[in-house]
Amino acid sequence: MKTLIAPSILSANFADIANELSRLKDAKADIVHCDVMDGVFVPNITFGPKFIADIKTKTNLPLDVHLMIVEPERYIDNFIDAGADFLTIHVEATKVLLPSLEKIKLKGIKAGAVISPDTPVKMLDKALPMCDIVTLMSVYPGFGGQKFIPKSLERLQELSALVKKINPKCLIEIDGGVTLENAQSIKDAGANILVAGNTVFSAKDPKATIEQLRA
Ligand code: DX5
Ligand code: ZN
Repeated sequence: MKTLIAPSILSANFADIANELSRLKDAKADIVHCDVMDGVFVPNITFGPKFIADIKTKTNLPLDVHLMIVEPERYIDNFIDAGADFLTIHVEATKVLLPSLEKIKLKGIKAGAVISPDTPVKMLDKALPMCDIVTLMSVYPGFGGQKFIPKSLERLQELSALVKKINPKCLIEIDGGVTLENAQSIKDAGANILVAGNTVFSAKDPKATIEQLRA
């Protein structure tokens, strides 16, 4: 399948979000990646459902909402009502991963599990049959513009083998530190969706950058 590019608005100017979203559209981004942080699960705070709902009125690109919050099950309804098209939750953040994924799917949007860099890939075994998307963090969650953790490539290969075995339709997303330099090896390791915040938003020509990431 074609590789999808999901720029993260963490690197956007939140005060100028309508304009930032239209730049992403012009640049032919496939998906808008929205990083929700609560200052507890990660040491940073971003935005909540209201911001997602406002974004939804300014773009028709699918919204990939990445919840970096404790007990994400508390807010599933809010983010779905706000207009999330993909809703992903961290396995480290919840004791009710499977029921949460099921709830998301029943609401008719794409459900996903995310693992942080120190969480074994095997932890996704049981969740995979329920996942439309699975996200491997290639930086410690919390901030944009970090360096890709090299061992993530091996982890991605391991995940890719697991997905093939358990749920081949599940999309594999990589999140963090994706650049023009490492994109090819990431795709070779099995990623279908590349999140790219800093690389796209700091580019002089975001359209060319997205094309190169995808190519
Ligand atoms: C990190 C976020 C990422 C991040 C990616 O916690 O989940 O989505 O914004 O940004 P870059 O591409 O700059 O690493
Ligand atoms: Zn993210």
